[in-house]
Amino acid sequence: MIAANNSPLSIQTPKPVDANTNASSLTYQQIKDRYQAAGQGHLLNFYDDLPESEKAELLSQLQSLNVERANRIHQKATTCPSPMLSNQSVLLGPLPEECFESTLEASSEKMHEWQTIGLNQIAQNKVGVILLAGGQGTRLGSTAPKGCYDINLPSSKSLFQIQAERILRLQELASKQEGAKAKVVIPWYVMTSGPTRTATVKYFEEHNYFGLESGNIVFFEQGTLPCMTFDGKIMMESKSQIAVAPDGNGGVYAALRTTGVLANMAERKVEYLHVYCVDNCLVHVADPVFIGYCVQKNADCGAKVVRKKSPDEPVGVVCLRNSAFNVVEYSEIDEEVAHRINPKNGQLSFGAGNIANHFYTVDFLNKVESFEGELEYHIARKKIKTLDMQTGEIITPKQVNGMKLEMFVFDVFPFTQRMAVFEVDRREEFSPLKNAPGSGQDCPETSRRDILQQHVRFIEDAGGKVVVGEEDQQIEGAPTLEISSLVTYSGEGLSEIVAGKSIKTPIVISSLEDLKKAVF
Ligand code: UD1
Repeated sequence: MIAANNSPLSIQTPKPVDANTNASSLTYQQIKDRYQAAGQGHLLNFYDDLPESEKAELLSQLQSLNVERANRIHQKATTCPSPMLSNQSVLLGPLPEECFESTLEASSEKMHEWQTIGLNQIAQNKVGVILLAGGQGTRLGSTAPKGCYDINLPSSKSLFQIQAERILRLQELASKQEGAKAKVVIPWYVMTSGPTRTATVKYFEEHNYFGLESGNIVFFEQGTLPCMTFDGKIMMESKSQIAVAPDGNGGVYAALRTTGVLANMAERKVEYLHVYCVDNCLVHVADPVFIGYCVQKNADCGAKVVRKKSPDEPVGVVCLRNSAFNVVEYSEIDEEVAHRINPKNGQLSFGAGNIANHFYTVDFLNKVESFEGELEYHIARKKIKTLDMQTGEIITPKQVNGMKLEMFVFDVFPFTQRMAVFEVDRREEFSPLKNAPGSGQDCPETSRRDILQQHVRFIEDAGGKVVVGEEDQQIEGAPTLEISSLVTYSGEGLSEIVAGKSIKTPIVISSLEDLKKAVF
């Protein structure tokens, strides 16, 4: 672990194919014997053709891969039907009431109470955030990491910048709490993967960490798993390289441990973590209300949900399976279960849509190792560019030819002792960026619209009036009004300035001074 005063902590697994390696230095023959015994001897088919440097590269990769574990994972994922896939209509059940609260129904006093508890924890430097940013954003069609994406806000801020500014604002708000530490810090643990790491770190550097202290941003890298054929053979991407893919966002738990992040949290005396996905422009990073709710409930895990819009909305659902907490992913839910209606209220029986905002105690994160072997693997069937193991040609397949194996971040929920589920208002907290521009749903245009419409609500809820100027070319019906998160995290602090006043669009508010000047 590198921890320089003025540079971000940079934590990276050595160069493993798989972080759980058990290799010491082995000879070619030993490696060959081991791979043949594991039924993966084909990985050395072209070894003799390789130049010396590539021979060494291949051997080092094979040595660090725990091939027996890869075989076990493949077998587990393909032979035992995933508990999530089997018998859902019988085994799934609704969430127990006592672990559930909704901000849609909570009184303002209750909201204030949770927020105060959360802000107090932040003020004591007990709260950190983990950003899951290892995904490749294939559906969005951008080659850059998703967090760098410009959703065409008037300020051109990227998702990373929006999130960083919310952390800055929250640190400021918490520092005003009674008994706050002299310096309030919310450490930001950013998980990347092989494909996103370099570009992510570079982007943060180029933007001067968006005003955050670089020493409080910790980059760490998730592991990988080999791509495999349906009959369990590890695939190669070239004669000297195994084909690997990131191990899914559930790889976060092993990565937290193996890269030293858990130790970093212990050093900082962090006790609670907010974990979230990179693509939600409305995310309440380190949300004090959510933290406060979970802390008050003495929960060890928490999940934020929104009411599913429709049975087909691509979100997982939080529910019980065999009496244990779980998320059934949208790609794995039975149609009948997804469509089932609760006759008591006419709503979807399984309608608690997972927005990939989770809460964990550090104690719980430390316990994950003890049940890691029981966690599930999910199969993603893909077209994988691969080496023909007979001819040595690279094949770009037209059909699905193999699988990537992934863990999901919520697969630890069955092991929680005390779960807390928190329903939030979709308009305020969930607008994911998944699809390419122009697709009309969960795309850059909807992200932009949802932020700008929220900022109009901020002004109106604070007692102000938004006047849409003639020159405002509203896109998607959203007036061009953007307020920096440095000014307000969720609408607080505006009423003193805007109550009873008007503000004209188009306008970008970057500071309270801007706001004071803008109102009339
Ligand atoms: C995810 C949730 C889904 C939820 C939806 C809400 C998971 C497994 N699924 O689905 O239940 O309803 O968000 O928007 O969490 N990532 C990594 N490493 C990886 C793969 C992904 O860090 O190897 C990160 C991505 O960068 C992203 C997040 O995990 O921040 C979610 O990944 P994504 O593929 O977008 O998940 P969804 O299928 O949209």
